[in-house]
Amino acid sequence: MSDTSRRFLPVLGHSGGSRDAMTCLYRCGNACDHPVPNESGNPYLGDIVHTAMSRRGVVRAGAAGALVLGFAGAAAAASAAPALGAPLAAGSGGGQGPVKAGPLTFKPIPPNQLDSLIVPNGYDSAVVIRWGDPVVAGAPEFDLAKQSAKRQSVQFGYNNDFVGVLPFGDRGDRALLVVNHEYTNENLMFPGFTSLDALTVGQIETAMAAHGLSVVEIERVGHTGQWVPVRSHRLPYNRRITALATPFKLTGPAAGSAALRTAADPKGCTVIGTLNNCSGGVTPWGTVLSGEENFNQYFVGGDAVAAADKPKLARYGISTTARYPNDSRKWDRAQERFDLAKHPNEANRFGWIVEVDPFDPDAPPRKHTAMGRFKHEGANVIVARSGHVVAYMGDDERFDYLYKFVSEKKYRPGQRQHNLTLLESGTLYVAQVSGDSPAAEIDGTGKLPADGAFDGTGKWIKLVSGNRSYVPGMTAADVLTFTRLAGDAVKATKMDRPEDVQPSPRTGKIYAAMTNNSNRGVGSNPAVDEANPRNANKHGHIFELVEDKGDHTGETFTWSLPIVCGDPAAADTYFGGYDKKAVSPISCPDNVAFDSAGNLWIATDGNALGSNDGLFATAIEGAERGHLKQFLTVPKGAETCGPFITGDDRTVFTAVQHPGEITGATVEKPASTWPDGDYAKPSVVVTWRLDGGPVGS
Ligand code: FEO
Ligand code: CA
Ligand code: CA
Repeated sequence: MSDTSRRFLPVLGHSGGSRDAMTCLYRCGNACDHPVPNESGNPYLGDIVHTAMSRRGVVRAGAAGALVLGFAGAAAAASAAPALGAPLAAGSGGGQGPVKAGPLTFKPIPPNQLDSLIVPNGYDSAVVIRWGDPVVAGAPEFDLAKQSAKRQSVQFGYNNDFVGVLPFGDRGDRALLVVNHEYTNENLMFPGFTSLDALTVGQIETAMAAHGLSVVEIERVGHTGQWVPVRSHRLPYNRRITALATPFKLTGPAAGSAALRTAADPKGCTVIGTLNNCSGGVTPWGTVLSGEENFNQYFVGGDAVAAADKPKLARYGISTTARYPNDSRKWDRAQERFDLAKHPNEANRFGWIVEVDPFDPDAPPRKHTAMGRFKHEGANVIVARSGHVVAYMGDDERFDYLYKFVSEKKYRPGQRQHNLTLLESGTLYVAQVSGDSPAAEIDGTGKLPADGAFDGTGKWIKLVSGNRSYVPGMTAADVLTFTRLAGDAVKATKMDRPEDVQPSPRTGKIYAAMTNNSNRGVGSNPAVDEANPRNANKHGHIFELVEDKGDHTGETFTWSLPIVCGDPAAADTYFGGYDKKAVSPISCPDNVAFDSAGNLWIATDGNALGSNDGLFATAIEGAERGHLKQFLTVPKGAETCGPFITGDDRTVFTAVQHPGEITGATVEKPASTWPDGDYAKPSVVVTWRLDGGPVGS
């Protein structure tokens, strides 16, 4: 970016709330205005008997075990790559010699409300690809006046969220960029927009084509950390996957089951499209996982389904009282399948983890029923010591659950065809969490209990293994398709919106972002507990999970909250015990990532402290644990997504989602003109160090 983006900026004033109302409408169908879908009588953590036993010895043992495994996992990941080409490992940086991430030395940027992408002194950044840029070879350049479903189906989609970078070739200068397009904002996409009702069918189809994923071949610029799309008339991997037309294959025990069959697909095996793809992960075998999140908002007619099916829709936030809920996108005007009155099972075909093989453009993407159906934020995989692969997952809704999936088969290094089947069969667990401090010490203010930590133990409760259900009254297909109801039945722990959940490749410890929960402890909603310790949790927290004995396939764990977010000057925040005067304010953690040194990077969604959203980094082990610093801010109205740090540590990829999404904004009256000075365009950006060194260090 320009010099202005590198200026060191004054702290600007705070102004009120978190996400804009326009984001709430388009992104999650006004989820916060609806009743909490989880009405189960599950005990929240405070109901569970506390154990006084210290687990600290176990924590250390677990960590040590995991450390060995973490390196094994990383090695396994690398060993998958030769079939695809060498990973972006240290030293493969195109002739500049190896770089290596270490302690975080960058000078933090202050909170601000500027309509720019701001990075620290000594760094530069640039847009890689923006909404409407050509993806498929021969695709037309973007033209706002000519936009159509046909054009959008070969161009970069809207509202980029997850970013994965998969290297190939042996020179460290080529990679496939795989990006989710979570949702559309028609106000900001179509000139002359007046209302969703006034959209033409062609415009609805254009919005459907702007959902999904993009696969884009990218190349390094010289020896720098900058990457750009490859421009060529031959782009064999470049591909768009859309909500409009891409067929997906259902796999696993629920594929073909009665609840997944429709008139258009009587076998229940093939679904058209993917919806609301939020975060995701890159697997050790070189594929991308993508979570279908707020799929509820795309369906109408829930009022007319059979009475027996209504609780199953309601538990997923689909209205069963109104034909057209006020958040509806009314896509039934373009495709009748979105009308549940006519096609009551269509909604059951969304809410899955999707796996895309970017190296095989002809392979249909798959929806893995073995990993359960909920509002999937994403999934991140680690190879356990036993060789099984374990995926950690969050259900992003207030008072919903944390899950993990353990594969039935083992990972085989280098055997890609085998590894591509690993997520098709296995065991699905949900988390039940207990605190180790007396309930009376968790008073809702965020004050630490007497033992000095929000921490405790937990159990992974088995829901289903292969075709065998462990939930009374539910078949395996029931458990996998209506997983939230299964979690309710086994008394899983209600969490404060579990977003991204990711194992550290260095330590094997798992980090989950609890983004916020305005309803925690409010009115008749569940009260605080040690894992969700603040009333009306505005700023969220980070949950650290350590599997007992470092065994990712095991059924018990310990946990703690290393970071309780908010204003460091406020008494209710905690930064790993680090001096709070030295840390950056942070609100609403959402996506997490790691560099090769094991530093934790956190992207935010909504800032209840008034700054633009940003990207932060902190050490998570040793004396610097909790020394959180702000690395980047995104322009006005935007959310920080991705992030992805390349294996050579030279580049941070960040998705700038919904810039300018502020109530009242339109194409003609934009609230943000980033990145091109005209109107707002969601874009993926890269940030790199001017001297070629590892980012952050
Ligand atoms: Fe799409 Fe959970 O954020
Ligand atoms: Ca405690
Ligand atoms: Ca997210």
